[in-house]
Amino acid sequence: MTAGLSPQIRILSGGERRLLTDIGRVDPTSLSSARQHGSYAALERAVTKLAPEEVIGEIEAAGLRGRGGSGFPTGEKWRAAREQPAERRIVVANLMGADPSALGDRALAEGHPHLVLEGLLITAYAVGASEAIVAVRRDWTEAAERLRSAAAEATDAHLAGYLVLGTDTSVQVSVWEGSGAYVAGEETALINALAGDRGMPAIRPPFPSTRGLHDVPTVVQNAETLAHVAWIVAHSADAFASTGTEGSHGTKLVTLMGRVAQPGLIEVPLGTSLLDLLDMAGGGTGTTKALFVGGPGGGAIDAGSLNLPYDYESLESAGAIIGSGSVLVTDTSTCMVDTARFFVDFSAREACGKAVPCRIGTLRLREALDRILAATPRPNDIALLRELSRKVSDTALCKLERLASGPILTTLDRFPEEYRAHAERGECLAGACRGTDLPPLLEPLDGLAPASDA
Ligand SMILES: Cc1cc2nc3c(=O)[nH]c(=O)nc-3n(C[C@H](O)[C@H](O)[C@H](O)COP(=O)(O)O)c2cc1C
Repeated sequence: MTAGLSPQIRILSGGERRLLTDIGRVDPTSLSSARQHGSYAALERAVTKLAPEEVIGEIEAAGLRGRGGSGFPTGEKWRAAREQPAERRIVVANLMGADPSALGDRALAEGHPHLVLEGLLITAYAVGASEAIVAVRRDWTEAAERLRSAAAEATDAHLAGYLVLGTDTSVQVSVWEGSGAYVAGEETALINALAGDRGMPAIRPPFPSTRGLHDVPTVVQNAETLAHVAWIVAHSADAFASTGTEGSHGTKLVTLMGRVAQPGLIEVPLGTSLLDLLDMAGGGTGTTKALFVGGPGGGAIDAGSLNLPYDYESLESAGAIIGSGSVLVTDTSTCMVDTARFFVDFSAREACGKAVPCRIGTLRLREALDRILAATPRPNDIALLRELSRKVSDTALCKLERLASGPILTTLDRFPEEYRAHAERGECLAGACRGTDLPPLLEPLDGLAPASDA
């Protein structure tokens, strides 16, 4: 177990530690401990030695892309917000932990809250925001408490609040706790919730960086992205870009779970092959069949393709995404139809209901999968899955809907025989789905159970 972290967050050895390096060493409840480990040197450098433009330039030179799923270039977003004429700007740290299986953001918040806060303060300085909101999942009680006390301590020490470090920069920090729904992590839904409205996504444009919370330019940034921001300003853009691939610089926190010897969290250079990732977690517990990469909006990569690099471009070209940073390992005793059903069921239950094609479409997808699993398909159910998946995706209001069919389409493409065996013969080729009782087993998520001590 790593000191200071919830028991289910187990940090694996290996990989390349940048963000994780001080977790377990720094006392997350103490500003002085954080400062002894280097915290706020980057903020000090930014506000006393660099113009906001120069900070943006460093983040652009580093090639940092958002770690919350979209992979959008961080510097570009900051520039858009800074260049938008406005008297007020807001920055938001997104710690909504939408995908409950991904551990990275929670590990940072629990293990090193000042790292996230420092990144947020640097972001505020760079974009010219005087308000910074830490939005955290309410049920991450430890994380919320630590972020709250970190913000209070930083403000008392003049690292936040009025006249940061004696300069003319002021950034008021507040901590906001919200419900942990999947869609609540989507940035426009989060902005609506912060404004006191229902946490439902909005049509874009306008993008939040030009018109967001209270109609002012708002930069929403994932917690891991913010930790990288602090790391870059402390270590240089070149150091950041020294690892990763041409289009995907730096490291990424990845959560491995399911049929894997050592489920847990690891930090690796982007571009690490899926096979190496699996090896770092001790390999599969059985004969690996596929990796579901990216959470509910991700996709299945079959065991024959595990030389695929874990980076934005390669995953997207294979029908998966970085997404929440989670990787579910399955083996030959895991049913691919059942696993696709598990993910679409999650998306259907978590859909907010605003967009009709999402609200109804995800349910219809789940129903078709249920019929196939129960060996009572309609004649065109497999074709329907494909057609409906495309329609749901094409008519999407937000990415929950756009990506919800990823697990279905990738398993249909890579494991068609499993669909046919279920539909035509009532046979589960994995021997996992017993009879026609629904809902199917949730065995693929075995690895989500609290991990034993490392
Ligand atoms: C359904 C859904 C859930 C999301 N949940 C999160 C989340 O929990 N945390 C997060 O940082 N981003 C989440 N995002 C991505 C955000 O919309 C947004 O892209 C991100 O916060 C921007 O920060 P980044 O550029 O640093 O990644 C989610 C997106 C979708 C579609």
